[in-house]
Amino acid sequence: MSLRTSTLIRPEGRWWGPIGRDERAWVLVATVWAVTMFVMMQFVWPAIGRQHITFESYRVAPAEFARLADAYIAEHTTGDEGGIPVVQPEPGDVYMLTTRFQFRPMLRLRKGETYRLLLSSNDVQHGFSLQPSNLNFQVLPGYVSAITLTPLETGTYTLVCNEYCGTGHHLMLGRIEVVE
Ligand code: CUA
Repeated sequence: MSLRTSTLIRPEGRWWGPIGRDERAWVLVATVWAVTMFVMMQFVWPAIGRQHITFESYRVAPAEFARLADAYIAEHTTGDEGGIPVVQPEPGDVYMLTTRFQFRPMLRLRKGETYRLLLSSNDVQHGFSLQPSNLNFQVLPGYVSAITLTPLETGTYTLVCNEYCGTGHHLMLGRIEVVE
């Protein structure tokens, strides 16, 4: 069996040359911009922009994570809103399970405390977009996205799923409250 993946025939010789001046200029602009953005994201914003968040990722079996999250929620639930449990966690590890089409649980966090939010999915890919702040994470089945965060302002934040996950995607919302 052939391993060829394309039926296109490779042109002979140096088919891509010579590179035009315009193309060269655009490649240069794109490269400089990419390097600039890399340096900004890696070194400048973490230092001065307060936009950097500690993020880790590790593998987990989706059913195992769902079991851990359910056990955590069962132990820490302080209320219920529309069938979604509400948890006011202690600082430290906090489980949140994304599942079509909800974020479980709703969280009530304390301003100034540090939490490590453990996020995963037990079905398909979801998104974790914290509104109105500028935080966005992918939530994938089989992986834990561990986000260490310290809320600095009180208020009600809405979680929006920003990865298409099925017919109820547009209804998939969650909530994090930050209280004194
Ligand atoms: Cu979950 Cu879109």
